[in-house]
Amino acid sequence: MKLSRYGQRYSGQSDIIDLMQDLGSALRDNPQMLMMAGGTPARIPAAEQLFQHTLQLLLQDDDATFRLLGRYQGPKGDLAVRKLLAMQLREDHGWPLTADHIALTNGGQSAFGILANLLAGDSSEGRRRIHFPLVPEYLGYADVGLTADFFSGAKPLIQLLPDGLFKYGLDRSAAIPDATAALCVSRPTNPSGNVLTDDEVAFLDQSARARGIPLILDAAYGLPFPGLQYDDSKPYWSDNTILLLSLSKVGLPGTRSGFVIAKPELIEAFSRANTILNLAVGNLGPALALQLLQGRQLQRLAHDVLRPWYQAKATTAVAAIQHALQSSHNSSHSNVPCHIHRPEGAFFLWLWFPELAGSSAQLCHRLRQAGLLVIPGEASFIGLAEPWQHSQQCLRLSYAVADTTLEQGAAILGQVLQQSP
Ligand SMILES: Cc1ncc(COP(=O)(O)O)c(C=O)c1O
Repeated sequence: MKLSRYGQRYSGQSDIIDLMQDLGSALRDNPQMLMMAGGTPARIPAAEQLFQHTLQLLLQDDDATFRLLGRYQGPKGDLAVRKLLAMQLREDHGWPLTADHIALTNGGQSAFGILANLLAGDSSEGRRRIHFPLVPEYLGYADVGLTADFFSGAKPLIQLLPDGLFKYGLDRSAAIPDATAALCVSRPTNPSGNVLTDDEVAFLDQSARARGIPLILDAAYGLPFPGLQYDDSKPYWSDNTILLLSLSKVGLPGTRSGFVIAKPELIEAFSRANTILNLAVGNLGPALALQLLQGRQLQRLAHDVLRPWYQAKATTAVAAIQHALQSSHNSSHSNVPCHIHRPEGAFFLWLWFPELAGSSAQLCHRLRQAGLLVIPGEASFIGLAEPWQHSQQCLRLSYAVADTTLEQGAAILGQVLQQSP
């Protein structure tokens, strides 16, 4: 088969494809495998009941069903939901938005792919890149570029905290490379669970504005929904920001649906590209979102159900891991120090083993053989100019799982670390 450059790029090796395939094959190989690898949200009964009830409302008569299944939406997506979301964000946060600032998307992944290629790649000014000012970042970004050499990234500052925790901080002294088309951060950050402070976000936006480039802020886990930000940090938007929201981590990844919020000129460009590539966005996500935004059920679900659920789980997860590592430490007299990134949002624990023998990929392979599926950190260090040992010493595990899975997973981690590699 003869493939174009595009064909070779998109059908070649990719960490996000490996990850998605791994999720399926690991379970086939070992149905007992403890799955703490993917970004699938947890099953939360109160959320499921709300979605089921809302879906039933949408299917109550022939016309409603036809509206859901039998029509294409226009390029920017359903006007009613765009108007309502704009109004609520205006009221809640004072952002000066209209429906023209919002486009529906087929999920955050597809939206980022389109946006990144709208902004970066080959241009009349040469090749321009998306810059990650704080790496590690979401591994799903790594392969979206239509051209190679698409990203640059900067190392974070590392602050050691009490109780075996640490935190990444933005290195404000790191220069933004010359050929940068946009800055990009996920907040909360996948994989680390870091939440950039309000100050850091404002600093990034000002730095981007000073360079005449936008800041892409991917709030797939953040505010206003699903709202998995555990401190009192605020949501952020400015006319220089491209804010990405998704329904996936609310509990609706099957709808493949989200929003992009930016100045109208950018929304126009995005929706034209999205129409060429996808023709239209799906109807189910926007229809559910419209129902859920009315009466602010979505915001209440985020604040009253999802955030407390995941925050409690984060505490349980840290305790389980620390207990298991402490026990293995005591019993073996071996010392594999581990720092856990303070879980500030999203639903991952990011573990750093500064004295790990071998790479985290090797450790994850051993964990998999022992029945625990987690993700090695290497692929999240996107765009760094030089090798960095820290990138070989981290792994990510999801705590969007049952407590028993957490305990069993932590025990396997403790046992495997106790055995010499
Ligand atoms: C930071 C981040 N952005 C975007 C996505 C894509 O999500 P979706 O395409 O389901 O909206 C993910 C998925 O895990 C993510 O972690």
